[in-house]
Amino acid sequence: MDNYLIISSTSTMSLSHFLLLVIFFNLSLLCVQCNPDYRDALAKSIIFFQGQRSGHLPPQDISWRGSSGLSDGSLAGVSALHLFSCIVDLTGGYYDAGDNVKFNLPMAYTTTLLSWSVIENSRKLGPQLPATREAIRWATDYLLKCARATPERLYVGVGDPNADHKCWERPEDMDTARTAYYVTPTSPGSDVAGETAAALAAASIVFKKVDESYSKLLLSTAKDVLQFAMQHRGSYSDFLGSNDELLWGAGWVYKATNETYYVDLLKSVGGGEGIDIFSWDNKYAGAHVLLAKKSLVNNDETFGEYRQKAEDFMCKILPDSPSSTTKYTAGGLMYKMGASNLQYVTSITFLLTTYSKYMAKANYHTFTCGKLVVTPETLRNLARRQVDYILGDNPMKMSYMVGYGTNYPKRIHHRGSSLPSVAVHSEEIGCEGGFQPYYYGSNPNPNTLIGAVVGGPDQNDFFPDERGDYTHSEPTTYTNAALVGPLASFAGKS
Ligand SMILES: *[C@@H]1O[C@H](CO)[C@@H](O)[C@H](O)[C@H]1NC(C)=O
Repeated sequence: MDNYLIISSTSTMSLSHFLLLVIFFNLSLLCVQCNPDYRDALAKSIIFFQGQRSGHLPPQDISWRGSSGLSDGSLAGVSALHLFSCIVDLTGGYYDAGDNVKFNLPMAYTTTLLSWSVIENSRKLGPQLPATREAIRWATDYLLKCARATPERLYVGVGDPNADHKCWERPEDMDTARTAYYVTPTSPGSDVAGETAAALAAASIVFKKVDESYSKLLLSTAKDVLQFAMQHRGSYSDFLGSNDELLWGAGWVYKATNETYYVDLLKSVGGGEGIDIFSWDNKYAGAHVLLAKKSLVNNDETFGEYRQKAEDFMCKILPDSPSSTTKYTAGGLMYKMGASNLQYVTSITFLLTTYSKYMAKANYHTFTCGKLVVTPETLRNLARRQVDYILGDNPMKMSYMVGYGTNYPKRIHHRGSSLPSVAVHSEEIGCEGGFQPYYYGSNPNPNTLIGAVVGGPDQNDFFPDERGDYTHSEPTTYTNAALVGPLASFAGKS
């Protein structure tokens, strides 16, 4: 519209002058946010996890949150064999997204990605390194309880999702059933067990030099959980397979141990051809990139097949590649799926920066997608474009990270953020009490969930900022976890 006005008021201008003017006009708009403050965004992306904490909270930056879920585990279920283990302690961990449920499959993925971010960027995280470790430990303390509370049983989540999703209440007021879910040898869940093993093994590497005994406990538990996953195959969520988690879990335990036993396990799993996605429910691409490093950097051709698969994946993502299957919006955002698209963008961006780093380390390795020559910069530039888009370099001039910049989502789909805090409103807000006036109202949320990255804009680069629109307005732990690595990679000195 603005461009049209320029045409009518400059009707005597030549076309080339007009085009120059338009280009200048667009460039000047783009430059409003052409210099993202990656350090600020990095710090905020980690603070976000405090807002998702369950359990007993210490004093923290996100002060509008209080302790919650303090009896989690008390409904762990009576078992004839373990009569006295029916009450266990499953407090702690993270609420998944805008709800108050602890789903261990995405929580463990969140933990694995945070750990991988530290492993690849420990120097670049700089002053954020302790806070990132703390965010990991908040999850691993809980995951250890889930794995160690009851023999032959792995707890995989707390909180009845159906009951929780019918309510709009603060975590501090929760009155829905805190059902504890678990898998056993007779009702297996190798998907969630594989991911839990990956998270514990990855975190064991993070803590190796700072807390040796904790690191050892993480690793020995990871090995046990992986064994359980391998011996009792079958997936917890029947619509999702579990081979990707077994590959991912074995890959991480191998990275933490270098024991050839795990290479044999890896080879027995296989699969994952033609993948063009990476997310909490599909980890093949992540496993391939992780294992490709052994081929790229250590020249170990046992892992050559994973390097090939990692590069096939990159060729399906890059916009100029002949085998690309990835759409991009007019504004330049990778567009995978309508629901919570930014979760795919951040996870894939993590792999772009990580593989780029491995390529650079492997004497500046390059590969081709048809005629397209892919260098470490090719991947890094695409990653930077995605991060910059998220931080505000987009047609809406909107930062999709809450609290970063001035124009960011104000009505996120998040129970705690959208309801007055206990400090401000001490009376309980029951299950239905939060819908009016808070959920259905149009006021901005009273509490700022600093650093939360929401589902993001639609395929037309448009974002409505409506609380009920959860596919675009809900933050999730795994969206943020995957962004920490890329932010560190751009924030830190190389
Ligand atoms: C495994 O081997 C690699 C490559 O030789 C080495 O960099 C890494 O530190 C080793 N890890 C462990 C846990 O021994």
